[in-house]
Amino acid sequence: MDVLREALLKAAESRQVRDLVVTAPVSRSVVNRFVPGEAADQAVTACAELVAAGLRTTLDHLGEDTTDIAQARAVRDAYRTVLAGLSEAGLTEGGRCEVSVKLSAVGQALGPDGEKIALEHAHEICSAAELAGTTVTLDMEDHTTVDSTLSILRELRRDYPWVGAVLQAYLYRTEGDCTDLAHEGSRVRLCKGAYREPESVAYPSKKDVDLAYVRCARTLMAGAGYPMLATHDPRLIDIGTALAVQNKRSQGSYEFQMLYGIRPDEQRRLAADGEAVRVYVPYGQDWYGYFMRRLAERPANVAFFLRSLMTKG
Ligand code: FDA
Repeated sequence: MDVLREALLKAAESRQVRDLVVTAPVSRSVVNRFVPGEAADQAVTACAELVAAGLRTTLDHLGEDTTDIAQARAVRDAYRTVLAGLSEAGLTEGGRCEVSVKLSAVGQALGPDGEKIALEHAHEICSAAELAGTTVTLDMEDHTTVDSTLSILRELRRDYPWVGAVLQAYLYRTEGDCTDLAHEGSRVRLCKGAYREPESVAYPSKKDVDLAYVRCARTLMAGAGYPMLATHDPRLIDIGTALAVQNKRSQGSYEFQMLYGIRPDEQRRLAADGEAVRVYVPYGQDWYGYFMRRLAERPANVAFFLRSLMTKG
């Protein structure tokens, strides 16, 4: 399985495989399971449906590794548009529907000025979010971006203390980052991590990643911040619930997060039990990298995709 995962994550970086998958006629219908639409209004509609089911959402405008400034500005504008749409639809109250931003999409990789450009754009997105009455979380990308992303987080939090961070349990450094970020008012999403990382920086075995996740969750749940436990893993969800009891945390003083289309019944079950549950809803045209990472996570998703190719392709 690790070989398959590795191959899919490599494919996610290949231009040729990308062209093949993106143009396959069947791809769109399979992708719909994970990405509810390409347009902002489709994303807002998906959020309204989830909210009606008792869930919260965080919207992600798909796209990463922006290569020019015009594209970075277009992504910033897309966030402003969708935030206005969420607000008009009455979905932002109490941060029910917020947005997640990849800094590489707003310019982080644009040469020596990349960090400054990304900070400016993220600042403008935060300002739009504040106007809309909601929050922003900064997604975490590959390990080379972590220091820059945490530095931008610190800058943004001076003006917008509610900006959320993401930490990836597979990185050796993350236990330390959890300790640093487990302070009052600090919103931190903990996930396992989705990128192809070298052994020099990340645990190579799934078991070690799971153990690291538990240690990080312990730190965050014992701290004074607002932990956001992002996982579909039933064992880790149970551990999260147990940690809440152990740390005398009331429901709503932390939340669970899952991806759109993955374990939707479990999302609703947890919400029915009174837990705060947020669904990560990606939308937009640039769905390829996100889609390949979802395939890499679960062999059943690959089988589903290949079956569709064979029956309809
Ligand atoms: P994993 O993939 O190991 O699955 C564990 C178990 O969960 C499986 O064995 C199965 O029991 C169950 N399961 C998983 N998928 C299932 C399915 N389709 N149906 C039924 N059961 C299923 N990563 C990153 O690097 N940066 C980021 O910013 C984010 N952001 C983010 C936000 C949110 C809300 C989520 C949920 C995830 C992310 N991630 C992320 C992705 C994350 O790092 C990770 O790759 C995926 O969540 C998969 O890891 P799991 O914890 O779900 O476990």
